[in-house]
Parts: sequence; C-alpha cells; structure tokens
Amino acid sequence: MTFSIRPIEEKDKAEWLDMWNGKGSYLEFYKSLDIVTPEITEVTFKRFFDPNEPVYCVVAVDDDTGKLIGFATYLTHRNTWTIEDSLYLNDLFVREDSRLHGVGRALIEKIYSEGDRLNAPQVYWATQFGNHRAQMLYTKVGVKSGFLLYKRP
Ligand SMILES: CC(C)(COP(=O)(O)OP(=O)(O)OC[C@H]1O[C@@H](n2cnc3c(N)ncnc32)[C@H](O)[C@@H]1OP(=O)(O)O)[C@@H](O)C(=O)NCCC(=O)NCCS
Repeated sequence: MTFSIRPIEEKDKAEWLDMWNGKGSYLEFYKSLDIVTPEITEVTFKRFFDPNEPVYCVVAVDDDTGKLIGFATYLTHRNTWTIEDSLYLNDLFVREDSRLHGVGRALIEKIYSEGDRLNAPQVYWATQFGNHRAQMLYTKVGVKSGFLLYKRP
C-alpha cells in the first residue's frame, strides 16, 4: 500500500467526519461520541481552515483508491520556556484496515516537519496508559517526557 500525507481540504469533510465520529471512528475508540457534540465537531472542522486559528489537520490518502485512511490534528501555542511556540499533537487516527503499514509513523513524521514549518519545534502528545498499540509506535518515534498529565476534576 502506498499513501500520501497532505493538509486537509474542505472537500474532505464527509470522509474526515466518518473517521472522526462514524462507525469504527476515533471518537468511538475513545468512547467520546456523546462528549464531542456535532456543534463542537463543526467548529473544529472550520478552525482547520481559519488562518487566525492555530489549529491544523493533515490527512493520509491511499494512493490507489484516493480515500482518506488517517488523520492528525495539532495546535501551536506559546511556551514560557522558549521563544518559539510548541506544537501539541491533539488527535491521531488510522483506519483499522490500514493499520500496521506505516501510516501512523508517517503522520507523526509529518507533524515533526510541520513543527519546523510553523516555528514550533517542540512537539509533544499524550496517550492513555492502556493504549499499548499506540505506544508501540510512540516508543519508535518519540521519547517519554517523564511528566504525568493531570486535569481539573
Ligand atoms: C495508534 C495508531 C495511530 C497507529 O497507526 P499505524 O498506522 O498502525 O502505525 P504504524 O503502522 O505506523 O506503526 C508504526 C510502528 O509501530 C509498530 N506497531 C504499531 N502497532 C503495533 C502492534 N499492534 N504490534 C506491534 N507493533 C506495532 C509497528 O511495527 C511500526 O513499526 P515500524 O514503523 O518500525 O515498522 C492506530 O493504531 C490507531 O489509529 N489506533 C486507534 C486510535 C489511537 O489509539 N490513536 C492514538 C491516540 S494517542
């Protein structure tokens, strides 16, 4: 299988939505279909195309079928420890039938080059302790930060 990574386009909406909140989707994987409402999804999608929003999305496209097989979303933000912004990889997803072909790795490598392009070279992300499949990939492309993530109850 060969594939390409490119920025999302408005015409990708239906296929992106299917990966985001359809059957076998990212939000289903996170059991979060009820938390991320259609209104939030709509705003998020719009932000990808708003030059005033530091919110971005790239997609992986199967070269043979032209279908979307994965995506990554990411944000840049200020950091008190650096002059440059940092880049937070918010969401990463590869369709079940396209996994283990290097798509996840290629998406992360694209995010690294986006970090350079956006002058946000410090790239970081979080994953659940139990997400061993994702960690198989992350240990190959990244290093553990040593920090635990807490949140407001
Ligand atoms: C995590 C996820 C994005 C990985 O995507 P993927 O396209 O399968 O990943 P890759 O094929 O690029 O895997 C990269 C490496 O990890 C290894 N790997 C990944 N999953 C593995 C598994 N289940 N068993 C063994 N090795 C695995 C591969 O061997 C590969 O190594 P290589 O590049 O040296 O050959 C995908 O499984 C997914 O979308 N999962 C559901 C959503 C999710 O968990 N997202 C991440 C949230 S933090």
